Amino acid sequence: MKDKLEQVKIEAVKAFASAKDETELEALEIKYLGRKGVLAALMQGVAGLPGAERPAMGKLANDVKSAVGRALAERRKELESAKLGAIADAEWMDLTVPGKRPPKGHVHIVTDAIAAVTEIFSRIGFTRVRYPEVEWDWYAFEALNMPKDHPARDEWETFFMDAPEDPKLGKMVLTPHTSSGQIRELKKGKLPIRMINISKTYRRQSDVTHVPMFHQFEGLMVDKDVSVTHLKGVLDFFAREFFGRGRKTRLRPFHFRFTEPSFEIDISCDICGGTGQVNHAKCRVCKEGWLELGGAGMVHPNVLKACGVDPEKWSGFAFGWGVERTMMMREGVKIDDIRHLYRNDFRFLTQF
Ligand code: PHE
Repeated sequence: MKDKLEQVKIEAVKAFASAKDETELEALEIKYLGRKGVLAALMQGVAGLPGAERPAMGKLANDVKSAVGRALAERRKELESAKLGAIADAEWMDLTVPGKRPPKGHVHIVTDAIAAVTEIFSRIGFTRVRYPEVEWDWYAFEALNMPKDHPARDEWETFFMDAPEDPKLGKMVLTPHTSSGQIRELKKGKLPIRMINISKTYRRQSDVTHVPMFHQFEGLMVDKDVSVTHLKGVLDFFAREFFGRGRKTRLRPFHFRFTEPSFEIDISCDICGGTGQVNHAKCRVCKEGWLELGGAGMVHPNVLKACGVDPEKWSGFAFGWGVERTMMMREGVKIDDIRHLYRNDFRFLTQF
């Protein structure tokens, strides 16, 4: 009996010490310490011993039982703290390590340029407006003094919508220039006007300096006694604020049906520094040192009349430039193909 008890003690303590987890531990607990377990059976054996042997064996059996109980409790504690340790390891955090910044995007460079243009003109009292991406022929051409079938219309490479013609306003087109915004603004009948219309425009064209969808910003000022001097002043102000003092602008006489006199506005090219040459070759973007940004002029009296504004009382100027081109001519931007802007290539976009 004594040997048996000693043997069970060694066996049980060893088994508990090497139990892998709580499930195994519980199975062993039932096996050794359960109501019908190994020790319970031994205790019963002790009870059946002759009277003289019983006290000593009883004591030994109790010692074995508590030793086994201690082995169980110890292992249980060990397993429990190992589990907590693993959790703590997983959750451990070094508060002194510098934080990881989440990746942060930025607005598209064209959106950014639109904001900059808006801001500069707001400083001299021009209110930002935007007009539809589809337009009626009357707003896009006819009210701008370009009668039906006039050859000047061909310069706008217009996309026509597959939509029924309006009896009064004519065909529906994708807005080919922001100048239709002049008509929409004048038709509101609120004078004087100082607007800057920045909207999407569409033409059938695609090469290093053209994309079929681009943006224009159109300035319109109508007031009493507005002259070319005001136009020149506003353009110079913008050029200085947007491009910096190192860049030059020039006005070339030109012809538009909706302005008289008319000009084309050029800015010295930043790709070639205004020389027209890059590494002894012609500059890919401007070819001659100057890049045409857009047109301008004094609002034609016929345009005012078409919108119910009396040209004897009111006069004004208008100008319209491409946002993308203007942005590309900014100091240090150096984008040599306008089509990059709309390819959605992250390697390109994240450079800015
Ligand atoms: N709308 C003209 C264009 O798209 C530019 C322009 C605007 C010219 C205003 C004169 C006045 O080319």
